[in-house]
Amino acid sequence: MNEAPRIVEPTAATVGEAAALLRDGGLVAFPTETVYGLGADATNEHACAAIFEAKGRPRFNPLISHVVDADEARRFVSWNDTAERLAARFWPGPLTMVLPRARDSAIALLATAGLDTVAIRVPSHPVAQALIRAAGRPIAAPSANRSGAVSPTRAEHVAQSLGARVPLILDGGPCLVGVESTVLDVSMPTPVLLRPGGATREAIEAVIGPIAVSNALPNGDAAHKSPGQLESHYASSIPVRLMATEIGPDEGLLAFGPIVPAGAMMTCNLSPTGNLAEAAANLFALLRALDRPGIGRIAVMPIPETGLGLAINDRLRRAAADDGSRRQS
Ligand code: TXA
Ligand code: MG
Repeated sequence: MNEAPRIVEPTAATVGEAAALLRDGGLVAFPTETVYGLGADATNEHACAAIFEAKGRPRFNPLISHVVDADEARRFVSWNDTAERLAARFWPGPLTMVLPRARDSAIALLATAGLDTVAIRVPSHPVAQALIRAAGRPIAAPSANRSGAVSPTRAEHVAQSLGARVPLILDGGPCLVGVESTVLDVSMPTPVLLRPGGATREAIEAVIGPIAVSNALPNGDAAHKSPGQLESHYASSIPVRLMATEIGPDEGLLAFGPIVPAGAMMTCNLSPTGNLAEAAANLFALLRALDRPGIGRIAVMPIPETGLGLAINDRLRRAAADDGSRRQS
């Protein structure tokens, strides 16, 4: 890539320019509260194709459509009571709901990879809200990184990963949540957690009662329900080792909490106070910081499997899964 994208401060003028680009079928990277998204007009097949092209993403992996509120969402999906209760509690915010495609849904077939469901979410970030409103249509947006790489939580991460594949990046600063939205399939009587994320399982169950988890489903079924889970994701270019309590001399340490083992080449602490929200917000930026020449491996301290820890551990397990596809980004 020989040209750099333009990184601009979000103003009425630049958001207007970005919205015009989207309406023309172009791509724009923009901040959400979770991670930066690579946006395109979700009703335009060609524009959605450009997302898959820019990311190098397999076409069987569907995209999330972003809308301004629940009323907008109802135009594109077949709504139900569970969705209503979840929307009231979590929207705008880091929850994506998978619902049956409405009969006359304008969402491009490519955005849903041919599935009869649509993943839809209402982001809370003011720049995302302003952009969707100005574009006047739903915006399909995966995380704004090359497929398989670590998700971007800052504008410069987007530029590093996608380069000139995206012409314009709205720079909203660091993302506050830091891990992607929770993806919940609400198309069935018992909702299924397809991807842990920024809305915790505990908070969801407090609203709608017990949910199922996709990896508890028979193999195949989970893969069919959430095609994205088939892929290796969040790969750093060097190996990652989990549950580390002692550190080797060639290792960089991704620490958590106040008591940190000594001896690492470099140490980055997700949260010195052991706060999971802070750890989630720092996760991808610190994985990037440790992903540098001279470090042989990233060792990660144990992180509690509760609240946002579910999403953090999910991303770390994927980063640790060595599938031979490193250095994709
Ligand atoms: O926080 C987020 O969700 C970010 C920001 C930009 O909104 N977006 C994001 O998109 O993480 P992406 O494409 O990286 O992840 C979307 C996930 C994938 O695992 C995909 O398989 C799943 O949602 N998904 C999308 N549509 C689906 C559908 N109809 N049924 C099941 N899973 C679906
Ligand atoms: Mg992604």
